[in-house]
Amino acid sequence: MEFSKETRKKFEQVLQRYPRKEAALLPTLYLAQEEFGYLSAEVVQYVAELMEIPAPRVYGVATFYTMFNKEPVGRYHIQVCSNVSCALRGVEQLVEYLKEKLKINVGETTPDKKFTLSTVECLGFCDNSPAMQINDDYYSDLTRDKIDEILEKLK
Ligand code: FES
Repeated sequence: MEFSKETRKKFEQVLQRYPRKEAALLPTLYLAQEEFGYLSAEVVQYVAELMEIPAPRVYGVATFYTMFNKEPVGRYHIQVCSNVSCALRGVEQLVEYLKEKLKINVGETTPDKKFTLSTVECLGFCDNSPAMQINDDYYSDLTRDKIDEILEKLK
């Protein structure tokens, strides 16, 4: 396992932005997730060797942040904010709605590997809650109708 030529080049560029190799761990984990889809134990080990950092430290960082996937996810990773502002604006009912609609529970992926549903901490859209993220796109002021619209476009 190793980075493609293109990712390796991005990695070298990332390293130049930091005074110490270890400081580039987060962007390197992003690159690894982009390249390999998720941060398996094998990927964590690879990043640790690449960055000359003990693997448990890399694992600690990878598991601390919810934006890093520790398991394979579907083509569309739906991450719904479950923090205070969103909770006060009824996100729990929307999560239930998504579970019914996708026929999966939180933490699961649809059998066709299209959707994974997760709940996460604040996405920074508190003033327009409830909010969710699907891959790199953010959606706020969610309602059932809005969710229908969004999912319809992903089909
Ligand atoms: S609490 Fe949900 S976006 Fe901040």
